[in-house]
Amino acid sequence: MSEFIPVAKVAEMPDSGRLCLEVADRFIVIVKIENDYFCIDDVCTHDGGPLGEGELHGFCLACPRHGAQFDVRTGEALTMPATEPTACHEIQIKGDDILVRLCE
Ligand code: FES
Repeated sequence: MSEFIPVAKVAEMPDSGRLCLEVADRFIVIVKIENDYFCIDDVCTHDGGPLGEGELHGFCLACPRHGAQFDVRTGEALTMPATEPTACHEIQIKGDDILVRLCE
């Protein structure tokens, strides 16, 4: 399993609560909801839409292309047209650093 790697600073989180990054050739989105942070692939499993550009309702992030919703806590696909989960990564906050451990 990979190690936790620093990917951003807490202060870099935009007001939108979403930060899209490329880490180790992977597109990810960090989502901040109140004081909790989550990290999933920034890739919709329906047709590759950029999830980080979608609307956030509670813990559900909607793909901007065709509206499939994903749970940012687990990556689970909640609505059609997506049927497969997107990858969910572990995240830690240490001081001002945001660290992510990419899943396989
Ligand atoms: S690409 Fe995301 S719902 Fe179609």
